[in-house]
Amino acid sequence: LKEESRLDVLINNAGIFQCPYMKTEDGFEMQFGVNHLGHFLLTNLLLGLLKNSAPSRIVVVSSKLYKYGEINFEDLNSEISYNKSFCYSRSKLANILFARELARRLEGTGVTVNSLHPGIVRTNLGRHVNIPLLAKPLFNLVSWAFFKTPLEGAQTSIYLASSPDVEGVSGKYFGDCKEEELLPKAMDDLVARKLWDISEVMVGLLK
Ligand SMILES: NC(=O)c1ccc[n+]([C@@H]2O[C@H](COP(=O)([O-])OP(=O)(O)OC[C@H]3O[C@@H](n4cnc5c(N)ncnc54)[C@H](OP(=O)(O)O)[C@@H]3O)[C@@H](O)[C@H]2O)c1
Ligand SMILES: *[C@@H]1O[C@H](CO)[C@@H](O)[C@H](O)[C@H]1NC(C)=O
Repeated sequence: LKEESRLDVLINNAGIFQCPYMKTEDGFEMQFGVNHLGHFLLTNLLLGLLKNSAPSRIVVVSSKLYKYGEINFEDLNSEISYNKSFCYSRSKLANILFARELARRLEGTGVTVNSLHPGIVRTNLGRHVNIPLLAKPLFNLVSWAFFKTPLEGAQTSIYLASSPDVEGVSGKYFGDCKEEELLPKAMDDLVARKLWDISEVMVGLLK
């Protein structure tokens, strides 16, 4: 905000995958904190500049694994129980619900927001996953044969950030540069609104 007078595109891409139970500096369960709350706060702090720069775009990198998540409001910090797969999926469901609710709030501003699944991409995302030494060659072979390269994995993000095809398109979910259907749980506007309200309190935007 101090240095830039315009912001045309914000891509919320940083993420952490299935780490052991850890907390962020602010005391949030790590995957919920990094994958959802961090982007939620950053985006909100940049909204004024994005609106002043309209037409501008926000892109939220989610994952198909959202399908296995739920927003369990009674234990957002996973203090009652922690399941690293569930928490990753929950944070990626939160990404999609956040993008939808934000799109609703941004109607008429010229700022659009869409979410996406990048595909399965050969990156460092698996840093917390322990693959037994003997299985490593097989994993490497499979990932070499079937996973996308980082360049390929970036294409849907780049498309949403820059293509004239999606000018004015907002609140949608994409994979392989095409709009994709969502499960009902990712289109639940009541849950999306409640998640927004709670996130505002958690990150201290609303006291
Ligand atoms: N790879 C896949 O198959 C796949 C599939 C579906 C969705 N995604 C999503 O794609 C996005 C990008 O992941 P990737 O595959 O490129 O994984 P990656 O290679 O592990 O990259 C993740 C990035 O996030 C950053 N990051 C992690 N924790 C952070 C924190 N606390 N603060 C700031 N930055 C942080 C990392 O920074 P450092 O390098 O500095 O640690 C790194 O640049 C994630 O949102 C992920 O959920 C990936
Ligand atoms: C952890 O969560 C995943 C995904 O939601 C689920 O499939 C799995 O059964 C859960 N594991 C346990 C031990 O509850």
